[in-house]
Amino acid sequence: MSGLFRGVDHVGVGVADMEEAKAFYSRVGFSDVRFDWTGVVPGPDRQARVVMLSNPASTPVGAGSIKLVQVLDDGGTPAAPTGGGWGELGISEICLHARGVWKVHRALVDAGAQSLMEPLTAAVDPNDVSLDIAYVADPWGGKLELIEWTGLWHSLPGPARAEGVNHVAFGVADMARTREFYGRLGFTEMLFESTDFFEPMAPWYPYGPPDQHMIMLFGGQGAGIEPVVLEPEGPDCRGEWGHIGPFDFAVGVSSLERGLGELHALGVDTGEPVTIDVGGGGQWRFATFRDPDELYVTLVEPRY
Ligand SMILES: [Fe+2]
Repeated sequence: MSGLFRGVDHVGVGVADMEEAKAFYSRVGFSDVRFDWTGVVPGPDRQARVVMLSNPASTPVGAGSIKLVQVLDDGGTPAAPTGGGWGELGISEICLHARGVWKVHRALVDAGAQSLMEPLTAAVDPNDVSLDIAYVADPWGGKLELIEWTGLWHSLPGPARAEGVNHVAFGVADMARTREFYGRLGFTEMLFESTDFFEPMAPWYPYGPPDQHMIMLFGGQGAGIEPVVLEPEGPDCRGEWGHIGPFDFAVGVSSLERGLGELHALGVDTGEPVTIDVGGGGQWRFATFRDPDELYVTLVEPRY
């Protein structure tokens, strides 16, 4: 439904030490704390501290925010899934749009981040859209991609900088099923499709390079999604709710109730709408569901 769904609003990242995580994400531009709330998060019913961060340099190609989540129940934040490379079931990466990929990558590496892929220029089919791309690891090993979509839009003028989230990548079992499902949630425009193995990723796979099928879908607003099917599929990297690293993402909606109505019409079971007062007149309004691959997804109506 055009206009109701607003693309990926944010990606949820599990953290063991909130202050350390806030400091890192502030260094990559996410300095605007939209809310900082501690309580029981319904759905999984976990006691957690949740900090929603946006990036003041966000543009339409880097529109998404980051939600840091520290589980405070006994046992704390669950460990990250292990054994994967990229594209196994579960969330694989967060991609930030960047103005000046070489400079932003260099600045992060100089600040101590590990380079996972040196900057390079590529283009994607079927529209030959050019991009600059690089990867670093965050301090907890999570993959942070940097892209400047040079063939799409060059962002706003200004110095080299990381902007907001451009897309979130996750592994799925059935590409046609995923495309159909997320198409109904507004992700109707395909930026690229590839069945060629992206060779610079080869060193990431502990079990040897698989075949990769990936597509990238956007709606008219918000960040996009990059579902991936691997062959062989590799280990299950979905993990528990709130685990270290990216563990869920949220699709923005202009009306939570109307968005839920669309999901129910598709036969998707959802949690009840939740409204959390985050102070200062702000509300975190969301509802949880599991997508066709049982990934954790929320609908969010941001009022903060
Ligand atoms: Fe990506």
